Amino acid sequence: MDIELLYLNGTFMPLAEGRVHVEDRGFQLGDGVYEVIKVMNGSLVWLEDHLARLDRNLAEVGLSAATCGHDLSEVLPRLVDRSGVGHGSVYVQVTRGCAPRDFVFPRPAHPTVLGYARSKPAPTVEEIMTGTVLHPVADLRWARCDIKSTNLLAAVLAKEEARNAGADEALFMAPDGTVREGGSSNVFAFLEGIIRTHPLDNRILGGITRRHVLEMARREGYLVEERAFTLDEVFAVSGPCEVFTASTTKDLLPVVRIGPQVVGDGRPGKVTLTLLDRLRREQALLVGLEPPPALT
Ligand code: PDD
Repeated sequence: MDIELLYLNGTFMPLAEGRVHVEDRGFQLGDGVYEVIKVMNGSLVWLEDHLARLDRNLAEVGLSAATCGHDLSEVLPRLVDRSGVGHGSVYVQVTRGCAPRDFVFPRPAHPTVLGYARSKPAPTVEEIMTGTVLHPVADLRWARCDIKSTNLLAAVLAKEEARNAGADEALFMAPDGTVREGGSSNVFAFLEGIIRTHPLDNRILGGITRRHVLEMARREGYLVEERAFTLDEVFAVSGPCEVFTASTTKDLLPVVRIGPQVVGDGRPGKVTLTLLDRLRREQALLVGLEPPPALT
């Protein structure tokens, strides 16, 4: 059994004993940023990438100094170790801390820094091969989706709408019909021999999985373009067509349907499974596990 352990402002304690003030700005204003990092075989996967993104996000919201005095590259592995989590994730959140409610920054701020680990099995081969279903929604989020902010209400509503529609994930669409990203994932398409995904800008989160997928795909010799695609392109293409999502918690998932429309032949495609095989192998090597059997 895992111990649900929390790191809160420098102290380790049982998760259930963690207390944050009602005037914490994360709670009242969504004034904070977060990270989700994968744990495999008790190791944090691509930890440096996640900490670099956290630092960038903290700087973007004027919280650069928040993690001073918290050596997260040392604290988080210790947290995983002491929690006994083999496979799962670590959640890290940094807020502008507690202060009498006001919109402008408190001076000085006393940020809240916390992290905890939780077990969750990776998607099974059966789940992967069943594929995932996306539900398109208008993207009603703010215009700084590159910041991994705890302000997630638009994504919460979109993902709930997707679930009520019988889908697994929301698909954020731009007004001009281009695909931006999933509710909590980046989205790729393999169209006319090219792997495409939305370029990095303020409309999407620069996913860590996204970056590694792009690198792996280029290394494998695929043609890759960071160029947005539309659903019309996905459904009009005559040759092979694949769509997949990418995220820390779910790796790559083949998309078999978007709304009422079936993608390609409705089965996980070869390019998606090849990239997922590479990712699974790379991550297994990183954490000292035997590579899993290939999916292709
Ligand atoms: N979400 N886009 C959005 C909007 C996300 O929330 C996420 C991740 C991603 C994928 O990023 P990464 O590969 O770095 O996990 C893309 C996490 C998993 C979450 O909020 O739980």
